[in-house]
Amino acid sequence: MIKVNGVTHADYDPAQKLSVWLREGLLLTGTKIGCAIGVCGSCTVLVDGVARRSCKVLLKDVEGADILTIEGLAQPDGTLHPIQQAFLDTGAIQCGFCTPGMVMSAYALLAKTPRPTRAEIRQALKGNLCRCTGYQQIVDAVLLAAERMRP
Ligand code: FES
Ligand code: FES
Repeated sequence: MIKVNGVTHADYDPAQKLSVWLREGLLLTGTKIGCAIGVCGSCTVLVDGVARRSCKVLLKDVEGADILTIEGLAQPDGTLHPIQQAFLDTGAIQCGFCTPGMVMSAYALLAKTPRPTRAEIRQALKGNLCRCTGYQQIVDAVLLAAERMRP
């Protein structure tokens, strides 16, 4: 059994890659597949709260795990998660291909580090490649989200 965004699934091929299963099995296409070899970070999801590259994970390795994908962040009424909203508000999205992976890595960071420095954000996102933004706005977005998420 694998839980994805709160829904438990039991019917899958344990030898399949998590990234492919999410997209083709569950039709959760927010998770992107760029390189498919663990380099670009576009396939990043949370596995039991830890950011993982889903193209490098087989389903048999996440038996019993709790997976969170980009589709699991927004509220049921469509209200975006503060990290998603901050990416929009700072212009941190251009083509958007890297964005789901960036947001999930940022989510993992902010869960542990609610007041990150710019250096800590860059460190947390260093495995997520972006061809468009130059990264500055992405760091701005994570700082803004951190500020908005603090009580
Ligand atoms: S698609 Fe998984 S790291 Fe690039
Ligand atoms: S916005 Fe295009 S790759 Fe990052």
